[in-house]
Amino acid sequence: MHHFNYRDEELYCEDVPVRTIAEEVGTPFYLYSHATLLKHFRAFDGAFGDIRHLTCFSMKSNSNLAIIRLFAREGGGVDIVSGGELFRALRAGVDPKKIVYSGVGKRAEDLEYALESDILMFNAESEQEIGLLNDLAGKLGKKAPVAIRVNPDIDPQTHPYISTGLRENKFGIDINRSLEEYTTAAGLSHLRVNGVSCHIGSQLTQVAPFVEAMKKLLELIGRLKEAGVEIRYLDLGGGLGITYDREQPPHPEEYGRAIKEHLNTGDVTLILEPGRVIAGNAGILVTRVLYTKSTSEDKRFVIVDAAMNDLMRPSLYGAYHGIQPVSLGGKESIKADIVGPICESGDFFAKDRDVKPFEPGELMALMSAGAYGFSMSSNYNSRPRVAEVMVRGDRYYVIRARETYEDLIRGEVIPDFLKEGRKAL
Ligand code: LLP
Repeated sequence: MHHFNYRDEELYCEDVPVRTIAEEVGTPFYLYSHATLLKHFRAFDGAFGDIRHLTCFSMKSNSNLAIIRLFAREGGGVDIVSGGELFRALRAGVDPKKIVYSGVGKRAEDLEYALESDILMFNAESEQEIGLLNDLAGKLGKKAPVAIRVNPDIDPQTHPYISTGLRENKFGIDINRSLEEYTTAAGLSHLRVNGVSCHIGSQLTQVAPFVEAMKKLLELIGRLKEAGVEIRYLDLGGGLGITYDREQPPHPEEYGRAIKEHLNTGDVTLILEPGRVIAGNAGILVTRVLYTKSTSEDKRFVIVDAAMNDLMRPSLYGAYHGIQPVSLGGKESIKADIVGPICESGDFFAKDRDVKPFEPGELMALMSAGAYGFSMSSNYNSRPRVAEVMVRGDRYYVIRARETYEDLIRGEVIPDFLKEGRKAL
């Protein structure tokens, strides 16, 4: 469910016509619905309302300050994977005691930054990271709260690039070897080992793999207890899928019910790290058609002003995003490729898609772009990153200004030796 709907053939975000924003802000831009973000957060968080839990929004999916602040005000925490995300989280006003830090390659300076910020938990992914964290915590006179991210070897049945819980993936520590790691870690004096965590993949459309993973984690918690390691936090990661096309993922309510049904220990706090399920369908990318052309009888292209640098999911994963006109027209649909201006054939948003026969100047919405859209965007082809806008009711707010050409070269330096005129030939 989201708040992008047509009224009199015009696409609205809540009570604001998308066209109005496009005219005032320019294109392309990301557009988020406040009501949808809030509804999704509450639906997810509410599904666990009757048990001890913490919803840590996964910042990699969308790290805009306004959006993070919105969830923080709802009592949410965040899942971070870098010092940069920690910086954003703190700037957005997230309580450090609601921050969990995941990632397979955390740098020493980022670990230090997180230690100094007194975050809730480090999800450690290797023996060496555990050792380094212990050393750094010792140096700072702290005890680092640690969960070991275990790899439960479960097939989440999703795209190979976004499945993470299989033994062949780089993530976590093999669950069967983890007892050993835990006992070693528990013996280190600057660590407080009190969590288990996992994340098996993203865009999962069934609950079964989550339940399977949780059962394995609970079994591990039992064995750890016997070994004298008391676990307080069970972090199940993120991964619940959304509808991009025809997928029918479980509603968060159903996901919550299945998890709670199997969670047999009342003394642990459940941590969840949802990203996509909250932000994905709360955002769209609005773009304008530049040109149309046909290269043969049956090959038509609609060239728009957004490109793979703005939304790279179709190029990178072959991901599907709905294409909707901002103004509905009565004409019969055509088959076309929707492509951007970048000099690569991989720069497409849709291939052979049935769409309205778009004309130059028309506005188009790329749907379900609220997660892993802006956050994965880049400056490739020296394209300034686009504006981000949030609608709340009948008002809109620019929550990130469009980058300027000056922004593009910020930090770049021409060294003196290159400043001395032209080299003589
Ligand atoms: N926690 C951890 C440790 C993760 O690695 C991820 C996502 C999440 C939570 C959030 O997962 P979600 O609830 O959003 O599925 N760029 C890809 C998705 C990569 C996901 C990586 N990890 C895409 O555009 O589909």
